[in-house]
Amino acid sequence: MSFVRTAIAASLALGVSVTQAQVATKIKVGLMLPATGTFASLGTAIENGFRLYVTEQGGKVAGREIEFVKVDDESEPSKATDNVNKLIKRDNVDVLVGTVHSGVAMAMAKAAKDTGTILIVPNAGADAVTGPMCGANIFRSSFSNWQPGYAMGEVVAKKGHKNVVTITWKYAAGDESVRGFKEAFEKAGGKVVKELSLPFPNVEFQALLTEIASTKPDAVYTFFAGGGAVKFVKDYAAAGLKKSVPLYGAGFLTDGTLEAQGGDADGLLTTLHYADSLGTPRDNAFRASYAKTYKLQPDVYAVQGYDAAQMLAAGLAAVKGDISKKAEFAAAVEKATIDSPRGAFTLGKSHNPVQDIYLRQVSGAENKVVEVASKALADPGRGCRL
Ligand code: BEZ
Repeated sequence: MSFVRTAIAASLALGVSVTQAQVATKIKVGLMLPATGTFASLGTAIENGFRLYVTEQGGKVAGREIEFVKVDDESEPSKATDNVNKLIKRDNVDVLVGTVHSGVAMAMAKAAKDTGTILIVPNAGADAVTGPMCGANIFRSSFSNWQPGYAMGEVVAKKGHKNVVTITWKYAAGDESVRGFKEAFEKAGGKVVKELSLPFPNVEFQALLTEIASTKPDAVYTFFAGGGAVKFVKDYAAAGLKKSVPLYGAGFLTDGTLEAQGGDADGLLTTLHYADSLGTPRDNAFRASYAKTYKLQPDVYAVQGYDAAQMLAAGLAAVKGDISKKAEFAAAVEKATIDSPRGAFTLGKSHNPVQDIYLRQVSGAENKVVEVASKALADPGRGCRL
């Protein structure tokens, strides 16, 4: 007999309610994140952020201790279904938290839908997760790939650029980020003249950079993240393009990467739902707490992990720690205002944050805010039936 059932049986014998017995046990959180590969540091920051919030609550969320079960998903979609099923079926987790890579997240969303397990996505922007695949038990604390791309399309058009080349990895995140950019940029009269890509997680950019140089566009828009973003920014500068063709990106290009990119990132403009210099009391407190705990500066991934824990807390508080009350849990998260370091946000009808997207510029080791590029931007959530 499992520990939970033993506790419930013992409690029933003592005349204690099942709910009380359940809340006496730990909530099992299945953390499915990359610990290896080009997105490894993103996974670490998400886990740090999540654990920081739990620690700040005294190690309990809504009165329940948290137990973590971890899987390294390697950002490998072909292993994603097996990995998520280990957490759901072997480890019997109460909640899934993951992941970074959009392809892996889509397999997680399918498994969550099939089994009714609560899923909180702390990064992967796959539009489908809060679009056609959305579900009452699926939530996202991060963004949709469309959001930063769309915001940058408006910015680049306002700067007067007419012809743009895009370059990214060929998978959902890259494709959708470019699609969001193109939608806004072309609506405003610009033209995407070439869409370049290479398979994830390749970083052999040379041939594509040569093609950009010969195309001579007014500007380049890009989506890369993690180790790939570091190499792309360095290669772009080494190819001499930084001086001749302005580079714009979704903010992952320069988030959590600046130390490794050094001067090659200086001055770059990106759009994202977080920046290093917000200066609000909420963000200052978060940054100080994170720096004290990990001896590191936080980045957008740490914020998303922290907010995933806040979303879990909002749901758990409403059901007094009884996570089996899934409909009440979902209703509470839907209604919650998440007091995020990025600025408070609520979820749209398909469970994706409705949030400000900042235009940021790299200055030294920081992504500094230039302005709010898009106020309270909601993902269109096409196809969601919630
Ligand atoms: C994604 O695959 O959705 C993704 C990965 C890294 C940063 C942002 C998005």
